[in-house]
Amino acid sequence: SQFFVEKDRAFIINTLLNGLKRLEYRGYDSAGIAIDGDSPLETLIYKEVGKVAEVEALVNAAVAAGELDLTKTFKTHAAMAQTRWATHGQPLTRNAHPQWSDPNREFVVVQNGIATNYKELRTVLESKGFVFESDTDTECIAKLAKYLYDQSNGTITFAKLGKALVQQLEGASALVLKSTHFPNELVATRRGSPLLVGIKTDQKLLVDFVDVEFGDALSGRRTSSSPTRAFVADTNGGEPQPIEYFIASDASAMIDHTKRVLYLEDDDIVHIANGELAIHRLRRDDGVSAQRSIMTLEMELAQVMKGQFQHYMQKEIFEQPESVVNTMRGRINFATHTVTLGGLRAYLATIRRARRIVFVACGTSYHSALATRALFEELTEIPVSVELASDFLDRTCPVFRDDVCVFISQSGETADTILALRACIDRGALCLGVTNTASSSISRMTHCGVHINAGPEIGVASTKAYTSQYIALVLMALQLGDDRVSTAARRAEIMDGLRDLPQQIADVLATDTDLRTLAKDVLFGHASLLIMGRGYQNATTLEAALKIKEVSYMHSEGILAGELKHGPIALIDENMPVILIMTKDALYPKVQSAYEQIAARKGCPIILANEGDKNAEKMPGHKIWVPHTVDCLQGLLNVLPMQLLSYHLAVLAGVDVDCPRNLAKSVTVE
Ligand code: G6P
Repeated sequence: SQFFVEKDRAFIINTLLNGLKRLEYRGYDSAGIAIDGDSPLETLIYKEVGKVAEVEALVNAAVAAGELDLTKTFKTHAAMAQTRWATHGQPLTRNAHPQWSDPNREFVVVQNGIATNYKELRTVLESKGFVFESDTDTECIAKLAKYLYDQSNGTITFAKLGKALVQQLEGASALVLKSTHFPNELVATRRGSPLLVGIKTDQKLLVDFVDVEFGDALSGRRTSSSPTRAFVADTNGGEPQPIEYFIASDASAMIDHTKRVLYLEDDDIVHIANGELAIHRLRRDDGVSAQRSIMTLEMELAQVMKGQFQHYMQKEIFEQPESVVNTMRGRINFATHTVTLGGLRAYLATIRRARRIVFVACGTSYHSALATRALFEELTEIPVSVELASDFLDRTCPVFRDDVCVFISQSGETADTILALRACIDRGALCLGVTNTASSSISRMTHCGVHINAGPEIGVASTKAYTSQYIALVLMALQLGDDRVSTAARRAEIMDGLRDLPQQIADVLATDTDLRTLAKDVLFGHASLLIMGRGYQNATTLEAALKIKEVSYMHSEGILAGELKHGPIALIDENMPVILIMTKDALYPKVQSAYEQIAARKGCPIILANEGDKNAEKMPGHKIWVPHTVDCLQGLLNVLPMQLLSYHLAVLAGVDVDCPRNLAKSVTVE
């Protein structure tokens, strides 16, 4: 129809590969794409172990061999792509996505997540004669789709097939399905894993929402009168323009093309056919709203670009003087010494009455909770426990209605943290989210929360998100504590410290060249590095060690200096590099004694100390200098040289800094 404009295959492939490159931070041990052959009855798949560039090379080779014509045009086309972080099955080409149902590729699937009942499904499907080629759970989904289709003797519609399929799957997952039986159509579903749809058209949109159709998948009987509003655009009297739909687990994959998106809810089944989009659900009775509004993203492409920096990690470290300001903006009145977090306003009284505050997070986010725990206890006088999400779940820890649970997550999509959140919601606790992604699952699932406003973080190793999480938590503690006159002076002191922080951060970052020299001349080449500190700096040692491990692959351990004598001291000799965090606070004398213990074993620690510390100046060995700030904020400055050291060690080791091996930015699987 005149509604469609022809696009060539080169355009389609570029769209897929560019989208994948933006998603590489989610996983990058293999990648793949599925596109139509010269007829949509044939599906071509290019997949390969390694980064997206490997798939690009495969496509180029096919073009060079005359097997693939990039100039072939299409009026409509449905394609898919995936970048993988292996959970089930090693990173091998046969385990890469897309996965298919049979040699004719009648159904092809890409998935993010895990179908946890795949073993049972596989056994059933094998008994029906399906032969598996991969070790993945995703292959079961493709084969199950074909099985369901064959069972219906080819009478089932694609949308109904999608419904029937998700009814059989357990576990958190998002998937996209393409089929030679339904040329130019796509089905996409999500449960527990994020998925959104981008809509690109030059036309005015007639609606700013899409109605959801509720229906019974298997009988096909509608259980609601609410009609599906197929997506319509106004031609405004002019030539109709084409509509492109993008389905992805993250907006960054589509931001090049469109800012108009709709976020899907768990158990939504999206069907795109003939330029129209429809959203279906299995049942009406689950309390989920019947409309998905079309939103406009505020993210700018420039925000996710590297600029003049070599790596995103480097760029993000150097962004911290601004990102911390963005976390504080509009929230602190430095003149009156008050903090206002709009997201918590309605819940302040409830939080102050809590019997306990429980922080739940993973990785770096967990460290931000550790870093601020003492301040929370000091200002709120409420006991605080800090939990790693996976361990919290393993223990099925008791949670009560008068607990306040705080879920900290940069991405807002970490599966372990989400599962812990579900458990706490079920037990009736008040749940707060502290995330960097406003539309993320954790932001949407929690009762209230704080957005850290650090801007998109692309480097796998978290840097600016850590400092912003830390500050957001400090602000929370300040606001919760502001009903106590007794702590007013302390709170004012902390706020003054926050006011000076951006400049102090810039001052630490200005010592980058010295830190690179230290990394190169002193630390690089060692097998191991111990980082010690105590009190507020316990979190800094753990976060520093995590950064070094993640990006430089050097073994590193954060050690509470008080524990030194209970074991780690056995590691000390003249060859073991140690960094000792010795900034000025109440525990300074105790850290000094840790220094003496190390020196007595011929160790010579690198000392991280405050500028102007005469005692530290006199001590032998290398020094890292940072400005002094309030004790509970000092960790924000101390972590910066450690971020820079880890970055330089990674560059020296030749590591792909933004995509270190085996890691993913956002671990959306349990
Ligand atoms: C992954 C990342 C870590 C991150 C952790 C928690 O493991 O590699 O850098 O700290 O997830 O992520 P979140 O998005 O929940 O903060």
